[in-house]
Amino acid sequence: MTDRELMSRAREASMNAYVPYSRFPVGAALECDDGTIYTGCNVENAALGSTICAERTACCKAVSEGHRSFRRIAIYADSENWCTPCGACRQFLVEFSPDMEVLCARAGGRYVSYKLSELMPGIFRF
Ligand code: THU
Repeated sequence: MTDRELMSRAREASMNAYVPYSRFPVGAALECDDGTIYTGCNVENAALGSTICAERTACCKAVSEGHRSFRRIAIYADSENWCTPCGACRQFLVEFSPDMEVLCARAGGRYVSYKLSELMPGIFRF
């Protein structure tokens, strides 16, 4: 799957976002090492701290289906700025694949890519 196809999956996933509070839909498409794709969207809650981001939704779907090694994640938000993963999502993803690629897309098809280890240096582990 090309980067653009993965980003298109992330954009489609953003359409399912449940965002009555922020009105900021985000979608993610996570590619496992064997090529399987899991998508996710952000799911908000009246108890705002219970909100789950698109990236963690996709990651939990993948891990709960037995996948623990990831190649790439595409993240899409219809925003002026790139939607880079929040701190909690960086920590969550780095647990599994510190070397994965993170593609951050925005409206119009432009995107930037990072290595997760570059976004999350000096990770916490025990
Ligand atoms: N959000 C994500 O889904 N992913 C990110 O990387 C950043 C933030 C969501 C959480 C919340 O529903 C909304 O965007 C505004 O913070």
